[in-house]
Amino acid sequence: MRHLPIVAVAALALALAVPAGAQTPPAPRPVTAPAAAKPGTAQPIPPILAPGRTLLSTKDVMRHIVNPAAEAFWARSGIVDDAKGANDRSPADDANWAISLDSAAQLVEAGNLLQMEGRARDPNGPWMKYAVQLTKAGVAGMAAAQAKDHEKTFDAGSAIYDACYACHGRYIPRPKDSLYKHDIDKDLEAAGQPKK
Ligand code: HEC
Repeated sequence: MRHLPIVAVAALALALAVPAGAQTPPAPRPVTAPAAAKPGTAQPIPPILAPGRTLLSTKDVMRHIVNPAAEAFWARSGIVDDAKGANDRSPADDANWAISLDSAAQLVEAGNLLQMEGRARDPNGPWMKYAVQLTKAGVAGMAAAQAKDHEKTFDAGSAIYDACYACHGRYIPRPKDSLYKHDIDKDLEAAGQPKK
């Protein structure tokens, strides 16, 4: 068994000594500084200053909200060929359909998070359009999960992927000679911006 720090033991003893109905004593302050965050973990969360303020960077919204939700949805959609042949990964039980529904719902609202002031990189360019595209794909994912429809779940998974791909193609820098092409030039023209 791991040893409890002294403060925790003291707090436990205090908690046990408090008679029922009495007020809980305030938690003791930790005596040691918390361990430094490991590389690759989320940035420190800034203090909450005002309602409607963005707290996480776009990168952390991607890492901790958008990507896990999309991965959870994709893991439960489509047909993949594996050693046993064609494997339909759509949920086979209610618990997994519920996960598909939850993750699609998270993507619906993630589209809104990306449009918030302070996070929207390019409010007059295609950024908003791609954020809305993510929301719409999430809505399709929710409908598919509610209907428990394998085909629609697959289609929604592709729509979700298209939204990621479109936005990354525009906003994650690529080398100039990259072979990775997008319809982005059309979008930029439509938004009245010069071609890249
Ligand atoms: C509206 C634009 C937009 C959409 C839509 C979008 N992303 Fe991103 N994503 C970005 C930008 C911008 C970055 C780069 C952030 C940075 O490095 O500061 C990024 C970075 C990422 C990263 C890298 C995070 C890291 O650790 O560096 C992942 C993973 C990611 N996105 C996943 C996804 C997935 C999955 C989807 C679709 C389900 C998606 N994104 C949809 C804009 C978008």
